[in-house]
Amino acid sequence: MKEEVSEIKTELEKKLEQVAGPDSLNSLKVEYLGKKGRITSLLKALRELPPSERPEAGKLVNELKVWAQRRFEEYFEILRKNLQKERFRRERVDITLPGRAPDLGAFHPVATVMNEIISVFTRMGFEVAEGPDIEDDYHNFQALNIPPEHPARDMQDTFYLDRENYLLRTHTSPVQIRVMEKQKPPIHIIAPGKVYRRDADLTHTPMFHQVEGLLVDTDVTFADLKGTLTLFAREIFGPDTKVRFRPSFFPFTEPSVEMDIQCVICGGKGCRVCQFSGWLEILGAGMVDPEVFKYVGIDPEKFQGFAFGMGVERIAMLKYRIDDIRLLFENNLRFLSQFK
Ligand code: PHE
Repeated sequence: MKEEVSEIKTELEKKLEQVAGPDSLNSLKVEYLGKKGRITSLLKALRELPPSERPEAGKLVNELKVWAQRRFEEYFEILRKNLQKERFRRERVDITLPGRAPDLGAFHPVATVMNEIISVFTRMGFEVAEGPDIEDDYHNFQALNIPPEHPARDMQDTFYLDRENYLLRTHTSPVQIRVMEKQKPPIHIIAPGKVYRRDADLTHTPMFHQVEGLLVDTDVTFADLKGTLTLFAREIFGPDTKVRFRPSFFPFTEPSVEMDIQCVICGGKGCRVCQFSGWLEILGAGMVDPEVFKYVGIDPEKFQGFAFGMGVERIAMLKYRIDDIRLLFENNLRFLSQFK
């Protein structure tokens, strides 16, 4: 018995040293201390010994058991510590390194300019109105006094939808009609939004943004239109911006004008951007045509109004000197991050 005990001891000590991980340590423990383990069997065998030998042998085997249990615990502890050390080594971070700042987003230049335009007009007292992108022929054309044979209705310009009379609005002017249908003067609204035309080249995209303006009241004159739009131009392009109004034509305004600003590139001397004229067109405008008032039931003898409409991409391009409109739609981060 004595020999067997010391044999098991040396053998177990050797095997413990070779253990690689918690799994093999566990099965080694089962091998010695499990139900059918070697030490357990030795304890059971005590019963077969003559009573006189039992106390001494029992003491020996029990000591062996206690010793083995302690050794296993010690080895489990060593393994645990090793694993932890290994994990700490693997997960080590150098907290002295400088931090990585998160990338901040920014507004798209079109959104920025749109917000600026809205801000200029709301500070003057205009309110924001909206209309649907999918319009009907009546609001987009007819009520704006655009006759059936007008070229703007041509398939070349307008996206028509399958359902009869429906289309993607080609300008924000139908919002004028929708507001006047619902609201009696005084009216002072701007209508920002998307518009759609069948165009795509260096200066045109099938979708772009406009801001419409409409003011209807008594005693509204062309001077109010000029004053409002001159102030607008100076707010957006700077206080020294020179403007001029040229006669133009729109079916829904009479008289109609286009407003130019002095070229932001050459200051009026003439360059490629302004085609050597010194001026850049930025919007269309005019006094509301009495025909339009008739469609919405506003008495043209009592009320006058002015309206204007501008392309936001065009204004953004002039403001930031972007020479290709497609840059505004490609979502190239190298381009966009310049506007932070
Ligand atoms: N709707 C016109 C366009 O898209 C712009 C405009 C609006 C002109 C209001 C006059 C008055 O070109």
